[in-house]
Amino acid sequence: MRNDTPSAAVSFNGGRVTSVASAHESAVTDLTDPHARSLNVAVLGMGYVGLPTALALAGAGHAVLGLDVSEQRLADIRDCRVDLVPADLVRLRQAIAQPTFLLSADTTLLSAADVVIVCVPTPIDTYLMPDLSPLAAACRTVVGRARPGQTIVLTSTTYVGTTRDLLVKPLSERGLDVGTDVHVAFSPERIDPGNTKHTQASVPRVVGGVTQRCARRAGALLAGIAANIHVVSSAEAAEMTKLVENTFRAVNIALANEFAEVGRVLGLEVMEVIHAAATKPYGFTPFFPGPGVGGHCIPCDPHYLLWQLRRDRVRTPVVEQAMAAIAQRPLRVVDRVREVLSDNGLPLRGARVLVVGVTYKPGVEDVRESPAIEILSRLRDAGCEADFWDELAPALRLNDGSILKSLSDPVAPDYDLILVHTLHPGTSYDRIAECPTVLDATYRLTNVDHRMVV
Ligand SMILES: NC(=O)c1ccc[n+]([C@@H]2O[C@H](COP(=O)([O-])OP(=O)(O)OC[C@H]3O[C@@H](n4cnc5c(N)ncnc54)[C@H](O)[C@@H]3O)[C@@H](O)[C@H]2O)c1
Repeated sequence: MRNDTPSAAVSFNGGRVTSVASAHESAVTDLTDPHARSLNVAVLGMGYVGLPTALALAGAGHAVLGLDVSEQRLADIRDCRVDLVPADLVRLRQAIAQPTFLLSADTTLLSAADVVIVCVPTPIDTYLMPDLSPLAAACRTVVGRARPGQTIVLTSTTYVGTTRDLLVKPLSERGLDVGTDVHVAFSPERIDPGNTKHTQASVPRVVGGVTQRCARRAGALLAGIAANIHVVSSAEAAEMTKLVENTFRAVNIALANEFAEVGRVLGLEVMEVIHAAATKPYGFTPFFPGPGVGGHCIPCDPHYLLWQLRRDRVRTPVVEQAMAAIAQRPLRVVDRVREVLSDNGLPLRGARVLVVGVTYKPGVEDVRESPAIEILSRLRDAGCEADFWDELAPALRLNDGSILKSLSDPVAPDYDLILVHTLHPGTSYDRIAECPTVLDATYRLTNVDHRMVV
């Protein structure tokens, strides 16, 4: 370990410290780093996070190598057949026309990189256990190709200590001294795919280095693509920052779902009440109920924390309860479908149900961990004739591996019940009103007076 381990948390913007988190470091220090000039940057993992990151880095003037194990993904990127906000699609078309933007599956090219950014998936398995295999494989590749002078930035959400376990230790075993020969940092990604309001460039970025110099190297690069950089005292602090952010969301979403149940029992519109509470200008952050959570963050990330704490026999009952409630939420939705049909004198078996929208949130094509998968699987397992309609998701893989295709033009009155799961901006949902029984799991459906909520 080098002696430049940081002792205080600092923020800098465009290379200058703008705020200081510790009282004893109050001077504004110039952190401009020559390594933030035009560099060869490799991005490992060109998915929902890696691709926009690579485009931002290219836009900041760096030569970018986008690496992915999936040739299909690389082909889709080359053909611009990818789920990006319109501004990023424009940037992609510009980038792929440049000789300084290279897409490849050849990891031998890594040794030419000045900076390597790791953005590979960190999913959970069917037992809700972290699946570290993609990240471990990616880190093995990076360590194997690392050379003196390189800076390596891990951005995948993961357990506290990953940067040290999967990068620092194996780099040291290879004889590379972290902080001198190579620089290693963790910087959690905060991108919100499909969000045009809070873009990657407009959101501050947290960076924690293994040493202070590591943090400066990583921060200097990332300052070119983020609103500003907040440096924390260690890679571990940065790793935990991401877990705090997403656990906070998970717990609050579980609470919002619970209040939805309270509102139903007490005969109150939960959305009206939450919006009213949100008029309080301090001490309250609104979260809203829904059919469950999906995507690659909220259903997964807190399980990395719970998993690692089990090793130390530490309990976090609030988080555990929230994650259990989140995992069960789609089952509650299925129960409500059964209850509402039963009130209409119909059993679930044989009933015709249309699920409207299956992506995990509005405006994206991403169906990973979408509650709709569990809901549709359970409905069909129970003998229900369940279809779905989603203009952004042509097909959905159910729990049993079967592929269910989206209907292109469903006829609403043909269904015993329509379950509203996701509402995309720009899509007309007028037809829903033609079905006599509408169950709204989004709590946001308007213009359907007879709709009930989950
Ligand atoms: N998607 C989000 O909204 C979001 C937001 C913030 C943070 N994150 C985190 O960012 C990380 C990446 O998430 P994502 O949504 O971009 O995942 P993704 O599945 O969209 O993309 C990951 C890409 O990495 C590739 N890959 C897998 N193993 C690889 C390897 N060994 N070498 C090279 N490429 C490899 C995959 O083929 C895939 O294209 C995760 O840790 C996630 O938790 C995601």
